[in-house]
Amino acid sequence: MICIYVSILHLLFWQLIHAYTIHCCFVDLDARSLWVERASLSSTRSAIRDTEISGGRTKELSGFPSFEYHDARLCVESVPLDHISREFDTPCYVYSRSALTTAYREFDTAFAERDHLVCYAVKANPSLAILNLFAKLGCGFDIVSGGELQRVLKAGGDPQKIVFSGVGKRSDEMRAALAANILCFNVESEAELGILNQVASEMDKIAPVSLRVNPDVNARTHTYISTGLKENKFGIPFTEAEKLYTSGKKFANVRIIGLDCHIGSQLTELAPFSEACRKMLSLLDRLEARKLQIEHLDLGGGLGIRYFRENPPSAQNYVAALCADIGHRTQRILIEPGRSLVGNAGLLLTRVEYIKHTSHRDFAIVDAAMNDLIRPALYDAYHEILPVIINGNSIKTYQIVGPVCETGDFLGHDRKLALAKGDLLAVMSAGAYGMSMSSNYNSRPRAAEVMVDGDHIHLIRERESVEQLIAHERILP
Ligand SMILES: Cc1ncc(COP(=O)(O)O)c(C=O)c1O
Repeated sequence: MICIYVSILHLLFWQLIHAYTIHCCFVDLDARSLWVERASLSSTRSAIRDTEISGGRTKELSGFPSFEYHDARLCVESVPLDHISREFDTPCYVYSRSALTTAYREFDTAFAERDHLVCYAVKANPSLAILNLFAKLGCGFDIVSGGELQRVLKAGGDPQKIVFSGVGKRSDEMRAALAANILCFNVESEAELGILNQVASEMDKIAPVSLRVNPDVNARTHTYISTGLKENKFGIPFTEAEKLYTSGKKFANVRIIGLDCHIGSQLTELAPFSEACRKMLSLLDRLEARKLQIEHLDLGGGLGIRYFRENPPSAQNYVAALCADIGHRTQRILIEPGRSLVGNAGLLLTRVEYIKHTSHRDFAIVDAAMNDLIRPALYDAYHEILPVIINGNSIKTYQIVGPVCETGDFLGHDRKLALAKGDLLAVMSAGAYGMSMSSNYNSRPRAAEVMVDGDHIHLIRERESVEQLIAHERILP
């Protein structure tokens, strides 16, 4: 009897500690980390929704649909991340099918009755499984290379829903796209128009074209991903565009059917989108006044996501603002979102290899590195880093770093976490420009990728092996 009492007391004690730990540790993502000292919690705690689901305690993470804690274990849909690490090891990219589907549908339904095409910017994440999922939902694609074209076709994308962007298309890439019968080439210069005309004439084809115009609008984003200023390499200068449209007739094998712009990536305000859109519309009016028929208006991608404190407009508000500007015009509207479709639908799962204390700082050396996720090193980008399993250990301030031989190899600075060797961490918002920008630096094979669908885990890309890395290399005889 005493034994039973002791066991019950023991159980109650641990339940209390567990509940207290969860209570203390969750805050809104507005706070620099989800893990903070209890004192700073009171104003932000409300953003974490706390619901009882069939007796188990669930914490939804604000801003990350399909990722939530069940009983102190971080799950993707119904799958705990520690299961994924046991089955597929780390580092590993993990995506949620439902988050991807929801993100696409938000854009698609926001356009309601207007003739439109959402063209996913493949560069954000070119995984065949993701492309195939979007293709099945009716999505189009924005490609920037012959390689991306091949991927989209292999994944079942409809060629008549493909637009081909990029400032330096090669003639072999143009040929492949013409052979595939894509919807449109987004052409960025008169020289490119000339080459496309020549390639099309050799193939006895007419190339459908949109001119990408540089509206000279400040996207107010990181300078490396701002593309719509006149000093950027992209597009035809706004002041020269009308002339090129009117002289387009001299290129017998192209047909100019569209007007296009893209001003940058990770935009968190509507104003620059609106400014660019209005400039495009004023140009459109002038072209129509000259009796040029423009069938579609492509407004590019660029809608930002929440990594940390950003508060970007929702897809619905973004589309509503564009539609309000476009008003009565009947052209088909194209957009090219990348990051906002996949960014918060994926995370990078990594494991702590070593804890290293120095007199100056505490380091958690994890098994993912800048070759897996280069955004922190390249843009000083912030990614939320969450514990996969909440424990009651004491919290310290850690530098989360990888094993690569560069001081720039970090995933996060000054993160308050309770860590020990072997712990799993989730680097959030890694679905866009994560795997797609990964490399083999330090001869590190690239990570595996999995997609969760309900309670199923699908391996969508095997972890690379070192043999694969060196398979195409030759030594001298
Ligand atoms: C032409 C073009 N379209 C679309 C995109 C996608 O941008 P985002 O991922 O920010 O939506 C990019 C990204 O740089 C781009 O260059």
